[in-house]
Amino acid sequence: KLPDYVTIIEVGPRDGLQNETQFVPTEKKLAFIRQLWTAGFKEMEVTSFVSPKWVPQMMDSKEVMKQAGNKKGTIVLAPNKKGIDDALSSGAKSIAVFLGVSTSFNKKNINKSTSEAMERLVPEINSLKAKGIFVRACISTAFYCPYEGKIDPQSTLDLCRQFAEAGADELSVADTIGEASPSEAFELFSLLKQQLPSTLLTAHFHDTKKMALANIYASLLAGIDRFDSSTGGLGGCPFAPGASGNVATEDVVYMLHRMGIQTGVNPDLLIEAISMIKPYVSRPFLSGYYINSKIK
Ligand code: HMG
Ligand code: MG
Repeated sequence: KLPDYVTIIEVGPRDGLQNETQFVPTEKKLAFIRQLWTAGFKEMEVTSFVSPKWVPQMMDSKEVMKQAGNKKGTIVLAPNKKGIDDALSSGAKSIAVFLGVSTSFNKKNINKSTSEAMERLVPEINSLKAKGIFVRACISTAFYCPYEGKIDPQSTLDLCRQFAEAGADELSVADTIGEASPSEAFELFSLLKQQLPSTLLTAHFHDTKKMALANIYASLLAGIDRFDSSTGGLGGCPFAPGASGNVATEDVVYMLHRMGIQTGVNPDLLIEAISMIKPYVSRPFLSGYYINSKIK
């Protein structure tokens, strides 16, 4: 049975903007974030505490948190102890750590192998849980890796289980380069649902090959009711060549509403958010809902 309600975690201000080479002025990011909250989200990734040398776009994370960080449901990303400590001192209550299944990807993205990074993250997760912080773990290359190709679902399950056992509250399981098919999405999420019944499971699809909406439908059939998406379909990991944007939030919301599934998100307010950020980003906005929208 399909759910009556689906939670959308907006990742536009973080995943959406991180791949833009031109720096988006902080006040424009803040206005974008405010408009997105107005559209009705309960959870949003607003920035990431990563190295400004690696991802210059996120170098204003402290300022973003100072101005926009006190809203319930605010999530920030952090890859390591320094990022986690900075996130905590900025007042973060919900922190997303991230790690890929594939070591080749992790070496490019965080300069560590999967096991080296995990060894360091486990004590950090323990200490975050002791402080009452909500821990989300973003699992990259859960289906395919840009360097290693197809990933064995058992390897993804194994890493997910390590995060769950370390105390992560949520797993956001990602098709980083948008290669998964709906049958692969159904199979992996059915496996994860069955094996990790007490962990919140979220699906994070990039839309490189335009299979993200079909993958969301397949994941709904596997019992998933939480999805990450990015307004305008912006996004992509700078260290995953070939990765294009996340699935566009407005298309996800439109599809779900047409299926009688509530999200609490007003897609027309997302079109206004797109108009606000459009002058500052290089990527075209190609979502079906945006292209057909009358209030561009
Ligand atoms: P490194 O160079 O190996 O770091 O980078 P290090 O530990 O050797 O430290 C070197 C310098 O960086 C030091 O400064 C540290 O203080 C500083 P120095 O002494 O030279 O002045 N440093 C930091 N500065 C700010 N924030 C930090 C931090 N850590 C160390 N957190 C590091 C390792 C992890 C920092 C780097 O590789 C990095 O920042 N990577 C982030 C990459 C990234 O943001 N990728 C995109 C997000 S993941 C994603 O998009 C996927 C997702 O959407 C799901 C999916 O679709 O797959 C979530
Ligand atoms: Mg992503």
